[in-house]
Amino acid sequence: MAKRFPSGFYWGAATASFQIEGALREDGRGETIWDRFAATPGKIVTGETGEPATDSYHLYHQDVALLREMGLNAYRFSTAWPRIIPGGTGPVNALGLDYYDRVVDALLQANVTPFVTLYHWDLPQALQDRGGWANRTTIDAFLRYVQATVERLGDRVKHWMTFNEPWCVSILGHEIGEHAPGMHDRRVALQVAHHVLVAHGLAVPIIRQTSPGAEVGIVLNFTPAYPATDTQADWAAAREFNVRHNVWFVDPVMGRGYPRDGWAGYGTDVPEVLPDDMEVAAAPIDFLGVNYYTRAVCHDPAGGAGRRVVNRRDETRLTARGWESYPQALYDLLLWLQTEYAFPKIYITENGAAYDDVVAPDGRIHDPLRQSYIREHLATLLRTLDAGVPVAGYFCWTLTDNFEWAMGRSSRFGLAYTDYATQRRILKESGKWFGRVARANALVD
Ligand code: FCB
Repeated sequence: MAKRFPSGFYWGAATASFQIEGALREDGRGETIWDRFAATPGKIVTGETGEPATDSYHLYHQDVALLREMGLNAYRFSTAWPRIIPGGTGPVNALGLDYYDRVVDALLQANVTPFVTLYHWDLPQALQDRGGWANRTTIDAFLRYVQATVERLGDRVKHWMTFNEPWCVSILGHEIGEHAPGMHDRRVALQVAHHVLVAHGLAVPIIRQTSPGAEVGIVLNFTPAYPATDTQADWAAAREFNVRHNVWFVDPVMGRGYPRDGWAGYGTDVPEVLPDDMEVAAAPIDFLGVNYYTRAVCHDPAGGAGRRVVNRRDETRLTARGWESYPQALYDLLLWLQTEYAFPKIYITENGAAYDDVVAPDGRIHDPLRQSYIREHLATLLRTLDAGVPVAGYFCWTLTDNFEWAMGRSSRFGLAYTDYATQRRILKESGKWFGRVARANALVD
């Protein structure tokens, strides 16, 4: 007998506006930092832009049909700020809201519960021109956008996420520069992270007031760190990684402020923090969204004197993205979150894998590695449920192959294959299997 998940468990797929919508110039949508970044030569490995992505602006019915075909009862997607307030500040664009109205209604009609992310990275370019998230006034602009969106959809949408992955927004976009807006400045990155956390905290009560009875949370990406060997130096390297990637974001959300050793380690790059900020960032939430893909294995060959390196341990278990499949880290992560912070509820808001899928002569997409990846992570989830972690849903990243940020179309994460020549979506074998799991609410073969 297959092991069952709790009743009422949400089985979903996750997407993000810029990765699927296309229609960048339609119905009054404004330019975003990702429009600009993707149009800059060299930024996207395979050279695509967000146009047409999977053209979900027009083809959302096909996406909903896929959810139905799999029998999923939830869908996580994001609303695009530039459709709703195209200039970042200024007039609200009714046509943008109308689109999300249609999407929400189509989902509800298909008995799919909408989970909406308010910020999945598409910042209006007009705001970036004034400093973007490094400028504190962007917080006010964000709150206006949140208010307008929740006012329109909040009668039907009862699961809201303020931000997707503040680490990516701040560090990946402003320190590492691999994502828009492509900066290389740690001090700016940490200030951005801080403003995002404050914006999150201020948005929570607005969402609650505007959408009575709604659940509100934030989505953080976690990369649990392990030492490559048992040397003290490797343990220290893993600890530093963990503090910077994980604790730096979850501690403020849970009312602990920034971790002391992380703060000291950042020296003069630390952000400016106004008196009430940490209290604001700690607004009580109903759930934590956990995005988990892989772990980091940390090594410090020079014992603190040189550069620390992060490498992967098991080269035989890498996905096409180069990320190691390591389900045990999901267990360790969830048990740590539970014992350390005791969240009322946790959703796995993203987990999944990219592989170089092709359509076989039989017309199918045989992707046993993706199926194993998901299966092993679901089996791990069952163990965490046994251990008492309140996981209430699992969202696979992603519904269809789509515009995978800096990787463009080269990274296929979908449960469905996208034939970009025709925009035809074809469920992969893993997607069919995932649908059977969702329908059975159990880990079936
Ligand atoms: C996460 C993002 C998501 C997707 C996956 C692969 O960091 O939230 O949009 O790109 O990675």
